[in-house]
Amino acid sequence: MKPRMSVKICGVSFKNPVIAASGTFGFGREYAEYVDLNMLGGIAVKGLTLLPRKGNPPPRIAETSSGILNSVGLQNPGVDYFIEHELPKLLKYDTRIIVNINGNTIDEYCRIAEKLRDVPIHFLELNISCPNVKQGGVAFGTHPDVVYDITRSVKAHAKQPVLVKLTPNVTDIKEIAIAAEKAGGDGISLINTVLGMAIDAKKRRPVLANIVGGLSGPAIKPIALRMVWEVAQVVSIPIIGMGGITTGEDVVEFLLAGATAVGVGTANLISPTACIDIVNQLEEYMVQNGIEDVNELIGGLEIKSFC
Ligand code: FUM
Repeated sequence: MKPRMSVKICGVSFKNPVIAASGTFGFGREYAEYVDLNMLGGIAVKGLTLLPRKGNPPPRIAETSSGILNSVGLQNPGVDYFIEHELPKLLKYDTRIIVNINGNTIDEYCRIAEKLRDVPIHFLELNISCPNVKQGGVAFGTHPDVVYDITRSVKAHAKQPVLVKLTPNVTDIKEIAIAAEKAGGDGISLINTVLGMAIDAKKRRPVLANIVGGLSGPAIKPIALRMVWEVAQVVSIPIIGMGGITTGEDVVEFLLAGATAVGVGTANLISPTACIDIVNQLEEYMVQNGIEDVNELIGGLEIKSFC
């Protein structure tokens, strides 16, 4: 018998727990000739701002051991273009749509949420964790009071449930997650990238024009798992876990740590079919291990004494 793969987040049903993570899957159409987008649990689109942005100067990608550094700088066509030109293409597919929103100020985030109020998307992802912009981004995500204020403000303008996307670049992820929940956040996405740097020893120069960037990929998976697990202990809103997922078994680990669904990011840049491969591997794992319903895995980590 086929195992049950569907999960629910804030009352919205996802056909499986695998979501293409923001910034690694464009607006979906870029991958449509390689994969059937209908097979994805959801798609989180590239981060949008009120106005189009060109992003940071190149080079803005650097390969590292088991990961990549990026300093894209939120290149995107702006929220109006998305609504008019990209969303209609995405709406042809039967998958959940998560719109990642960004701003220089709290007011800008709120104005984007307003513009998206009557648009048929399923979630907003409040990105307060981009490490590559001078204003906004991660600056909003590192202090609990600020996280509270921005979440509360955006909630007042948003119609869709709001997932607050957190940065790992903090001392205590738990207090940040608690602030997001207290402010009315409907769910939490974590983790965004880990701040890092690459240096070209021959040239004695930083590899990225922005000098520093965000590290993603398998190198950060243990950090992400730890943070998902920590956050799951202190909030009762759902968690979308992400950070270095490349296999179905990685998904199982995140679900056991307490995530309800997962984001797959850097793996999409290695293979355009990564998300679908991961869905198939997850299903295979469940069959092999006699798991009838994927929800059985959520929060199922067994902490026993090793002595
Ligand atoms: O630079 C970027 O566009 C990255 C965004 C993010 O990490 O959220």
